[in-house]
Amino acid sequence: MAITTCIFDAYGTLFDVAAAAREAAAEPGREALASKWQMLAETWRLKQLQYTWLRAVSDAHTDFWEVTGNGLDFALEETGLDGDPDLRERLMALYFELSAYAEVPKMLSELKAAGFATGILSNGSPDMLAGAVNSAGVGDVLDAILSVESVGVFKPHKSVYDLVGQHYGCAPDEVLFVSSNGWDAAGAAGYGFRTVWVNRGNIPMDRLPWTPQKVLSDLTTIPQLARSGL
Ligand code: LAC
Repeated sequence: MAITTCIFDAYGTLFDVAAAAREAAAEPGREALASKWQMLAETWRLKQLQYTWLRAVSDAHTDFWEVTGNGLDFALEETGLDGDPDLRERLMALYFELSAYAEVPKMLSELKAAGFATGILSNGSPDMLAGAVNSAGVGDVLDAILSVESVGVFKPHKSVYDLVGQHYGCAPDEVLFVSSNGWDAAGAAGYGFRTVWVNRGNIPMDRLPWTPQKVLSDLTTIPQLARSGL
């Protein structure tokens, strides 16, 4: 079956999750953050994701904006940056409008021009996804923005991946699913999507029962891959 539909994870895949801390660190008066932003960004992301998995297995869902704030609070305390409420507010505001990776607009435009259906499938809540999509200016090259909020559980729960077939009316093996999160790429491969793991940091593959069909270092060649099949 040929690929008809290209679906992207949002955070870490289209949008650079380290950008909020990096951009805040470059602002005047943020000297305390300047030497610690990388550690802060790493812990923030790790805790944010851990909380999604813990909430999913505990049946204690809340939206991704709250989980993102919880992860940030942990990271700020661990790095000793928790004394400045303005910093928290600034980081959350930057997270709402995260920068997209440089190749994203052209890559999505190429997919649309080639006739593929496109979309996002993300843990993000609808308003934060709209914020990031608008600030990246890619709303017109995405056919749908699917959020886990419509099923009330985070990835990699199967009901999240079901949203793609429900929305586009396509079979799993018509879908090219792209994620920079190894565990998400693995979950999607287990579900039956054709899956690409975008491994920008050249990190080891997650040891899970499923493996992505393809590993890339960025998104540039996705249109070519979608056309040639996987
Ligand atoms: C998302 C997270 C996993 O966008 O990055 O779903």
